[in-house]
Amino acid sequence: MVMKIAVLPGDGIGPEIVTEAVKVLKALDLPFEMEEAKVGGAAYDAHGHPLPPATLKLAMDSDAVLFGSVGDWKYDKLDRPLRPEQAILGLRKNMGLFANFRPAICYPQLTHASSLKPELVAGLDILIIRELTGDIYFGQPRGRRLSPDGEFKGAEEAFDTMRYSRPEIERIAHVAFQAARKRHKRVTSVDKANVLETFQFWKDVVIEVHAQYPDIELDHMYVDNAAMQLVKAPKKFDVLFTGNMFGDILSDAAAMLTGSIGMLPSASLNAKGQGLYEPSHGSAPDIAGKGVANPLATILSAAMMLRFSLNQEAAASRIEAAVQTVLEQGLRTGDIYSEGTRKVGTVEMGDAVLAALSRQG
Ligand code: IPM
Ligand code: MG
Repeated sequence: MVMKIAVLPGDGIGPEIVTEAVKVLKALDLPFEMEEAKVGGAAYDAHGHPLPPATLKLAMDSDAVLFGSVGDWKYDKLDRPLRPEQAILGLRKNMGLFANFRPAICYPQLTHASSLKPELVAGLDILIIRELTGDIYFGQPRGRRLSPDGEFKGAEEAFDTMRYSRPEIERIAHVAFQAARKRHKRVTSVDKANVLETFQFWKDVVIEVHAQYPDIELDHMYVDNAAMQLVKAPKKFDVLFTGNMFGDILSDAAAMLTGSIGMLPSASLNAKGQGLYEPSHGSAPDIAGKGVANPLATILSAAMMLRFSLNQEAAASRIEAAVQTVLEQGLRTGDIYSEGTRKVGTVEMGDAVLAALSRQG
């Protein structure tokens, strides 16, 4: 059966890194049908919208989406609905991609790239599960108005709405507990139940769902403490499970602990197993077009795609092993370079992964 992959390179370094991931996928000799479309600022420039209907349709009709990155400072002045970031938010919402997996792994070869002491991060392997289609990101109502009440009645104000419904929390809690089953069986649910009604409810529902997973250890942590624990003793976490807003912030912090945000893939899944796969890093406009970006996060995202949406575990493991091989060979893009290793560019890194794949026999 042909597996349909929508390829959405996007902006900044997106096209360069996606090219390398596509190259690796093609080398696997599997029945893929890949179709490319513009997204983000590139789509705005070509079609006047960051997520044109044809791009959305292509994504919805595919088994999986391979996504690069979107955004560039030059679009900051556009009205919000036309900004590149709206493309990724629109894809998440329209495809129902509620479950976001963000692994934060510290590769043994890269321990010294972390800003933390090596002993704090050596062997780090956290899985962040972030709810991705609810919370203050999408909650209505939102907008600007003249304040209807309070101390500043009549003054201009802006507001967003934080909200979560029971089924929304239940389905992501199941995802978190099931993911923990395949790991060290520990879930830390991160909330702000001491202040926010939404997250007291989150905590209550998570505790209820947990009753179905007696084999999983569950604890709860306030988000401020979680931020502190992430830099104090990150290895204590197994699955860090949280809502959309807190997950956005904590996943960037966790990624940086590994010293290699250029290495971290991510997956966003819906109830049908359809998924969008993208590197955890952004579009890095400052280095776009220079051929120096690290393509490994995108290549590893392609591996996650094979595993989660395309049921190709063997091919996924092959890619991950090939990435290990190039790290062992000492090849490094600038973001993970240290003395004694060999600095390479985007294309050379992709070629090295290809070579490692072909040597696997
Ligand atoms: C992320 C990004 C997005 C988010 C932006 C680009 C809308 O920061 O995927 O973490 O806030 O979710
Ligand atoms: Mg983010």
